[in-house]
Amino acid sequence: MKPSPMSLRAPSREFPKGWYCVADSKEVKVEKLLPVSWLGRDYVVFRDTQGLAKVADAYCPHLGAHLASHDGCIKEGRVICPFHHWGFDTSTGKCTDIPYAKVIPPVSLTFYEVREVNEQIVIWYHPEGLAPDREPYQSDLLKEREWVLFDSRSWTSSAPFCDILENLFDTAHILMLHHAHETPKLGNIEELDYGLKVDYIMDPDKSDQPMKSLTCHISGITLLVQHYEFVGTEALFVFSFTPIDHEYFVQRTHLYLLNNVSPEVMENIGKEFVDRFVMEVDQDMEVLNFKKHLTKPRLCDGDGPILRFRRYSNQFLEKEGV
Ligand code: FES
Ligand SMILES: [Fe+2]
Repeated sequence: MKPSPMSLRAPSREFPKGWYCVADSKEVKVEKLLPVSWLGRDYVVFRDTQGLAKVADAYCPHLGAHLASHDGCIKEGRVICPFHHWGFDTSTGKCTDIPYAKVIPPVSLTFYEVREVNEQIVIWYHPEGLAPDREPYQSDLLKEREWVLFDSRSWTSSAPFCDILENLFDTAHILMLHHAHETPKLGNIEELDYGLKVDYIMDPDKSDQPMKSLTCHISGITLLVQHYEFVGTEALFVFSFTPIDHEYFVQRTHLYLLNNVSPEVMENIGKEFVDRFVMEVDQDMEVLNFKKHLTKPRLCDGDGPILRFRRYSNQFLEKEGV
């Protein structure tokens, strides 16, 4: 079965406002242009000589050449367009150099608001072009402790974009779709400056349970960091969700394991974790890629706090979904 277009199953044709991952930190190098396409637009991503990540419009304001085409490059602090060699300052975006002109017109490359958090380069998007009204969540744990990047994955999905994180709050599907033995228990759901912090309740009577705690930090509805505490070690799961266009988005995940156990133990824990996770995402995608966003779902008492999530997520959407 082929899914009908996402745009026919989603409540809005506008991308939600928020911070969107455009590249992993390690992909972006000093004075090297990385062309990427997200949110129906083309960008170039690079680092300036200070190592600061920058994201600019891919198209030169002179005559629209793609800055990473042909031999487009960065030289001596300037992005050099391959077409007529106009040079744009990598700090300010201003055109500072035109080899064949006497007067430099006041023209600039469009730069976007960028943050580098959780080993990802994220940009701010607002449907009306307004400035950021919040900062994305930064995991201090990831910065301060020693982790091993155990696994990275990505999925391309045609699920209605605003429904992907709703999946965390739809606890009944864990039992039914994923065949878990019991429903995860969501505890405190707290709205903070970056978005939502969600704690799960673990059963203290289950001494055989390897997981001691799970906390989710959701930035807007586009980024997620999960912190797991197991007996003897910890894991951080960094997720991003970025639309390619109005039909598809990409879910990226990076699993970090605390570097406090032997490589064999880490391999065992990580493999079990990844196998279970990949199976569940594959199961989710087989349903989510075809589902429609219902603005008035008919819920029952066993469903999770789906409406609580929707009341929160509506603030990022152009049109109210519920
Ligand atoms: S199009 Fe870029 S310099 Fe002319
Ligand atoms: Fe799921």
